[in-house]
Parts: sequence; structure tokens; C-alpha cells
Amino acid sequence: MNEARVADTKPVILELEPGDYWWCTCGNSANQPFCDGAHQDTGFKPLKFSLADKQQVALCQCKATQNPPRCDGSHNNL
Ligand code: FES
Repeated sequence: MNEARVADTKPVILELEPGDYWWCTCGNSANQPFCDGAHQDTGFKPLKFSLADKQQVALCQCKATQNPPRCDGSHNNL
């Protein structure tokens, strides 16, 4: 498997409704931070996560977080 592409070097802060989401792990999606199917043939698969309540989340876009899909500050070490 190749390394994930760095989509951005900062997280995106979003207010999300309750529901299921698919976070892009490969970095190739044009709809960051969510999967748009661009991972095809890369060996990466999207990460599904679910929110029970409406909440603000900081989602990783550098793809180096150790706590996906949430930012853990790893972009500071790139
Ligand atoms: S486009 Fe990146 S995981 Fe689907």
C-alpha cells in the first residue's frame, strides 16, 4: 500500500448532523474530508464513523492522525 496523500495540513472543523459518514483515508477525494470513491485501486478504504448527536468535529485532512477520523495534531509533525 502506498502512503496516503496529504489532502491538507490542517484539520477541517465541521458541524455535523447525527448519521453515518465515510472519512477519506487515502487523501485523494475531491470532497475532503469525505470519501468520493477516488481510493479505487489504491489499496485504501474509507473509514466509516457514526455520530449519535449533532456536534462539532475536527476531522483530519493530513491523514496521519492516530485517532481517525479526528485530528490529533499529527499535522504539526509533517
Ligand atoms: S476517496 Fe479516499 S478513501 Fe475513498
